[in-house]
Amino acid sequence: MTRHVAVVVGSLRKDSLSRKVAQHLVETAPKGLKFQIVEIGSLPLYNEDLDHAPPAEWTAFRQALKRADGVLFVTPEYNRSVPAALKNAIDVGSRPYGSSAWAGKPGAVVSISQGALGGFGANHHLRQSLVFLDVPTLAQPELYLGSIQKAFDTDGHIADENVRGLLSGFLTRFDAWVGAHAAPALARAS
Ligand code: FNR
Repeated sequence: MTRHVAVVVGSLRKDSLSRKVAQHLVETAPKGLKFQIVEIGSLPLYNEDLDHAPPAEWTAFRQALKRADGVLFVTPEYNRSVPAALKNAIDVGSRPYGSSAWAGKPGAVVSISQGALGGFGANHHLRQSLVFLDVPTLAQPELYLGSIQKAFDTDGHIADENVRGLLSGFLTRFDAWVGAHAAPALARAS
């Protein structure tokens, strides 16, 4: 059985290292998982007033999340927290009140940085929101990928064997995590 995972990338820039890590995960996903990056860059800023007639971008994003069996976040850290675009996506997906698209989806967080700390602050701020959103989030392995720019070859592929190994081990655990916590298909459709 194939399980579908919505991948949310916290950076909007063209040459994003987070996106390259996400792309590596998409390409090396275990057989039972199908990853799809769900774009967040064109989501209008969340404003509760608009939820009476939600923008088409919000509706499409919410539907993409609802169709997924799980969610995976790959994000950099901005000012020791999550980038605003990612926080906006979390807020959009969480409403209207009582119909959060996140609830119950097994999830995981990968954070990156070009410095040494690997986006630890962003990773844990995100986990704080995920607790509230009822996203059962993989605890181990934690992935704080520091100095990530050094892991790539000139074609933008991850060449560093240590990083490749960390990501591969992570995927094995995440596969099992999604399998253990995903809602049955019928429950998802309702
Ligand atoms: C950053 N960056 C950064 N890095 C970090 O380790 N901790 C931080 O708090 C911040 N803060 C921060 C704020 C803002 C506004 C920017 C633009 C950048 C650096 C950032 O994580 C780095 O540039 C990453 O490479 C950005 O991720 P992408 O775009 O490569 O995925």
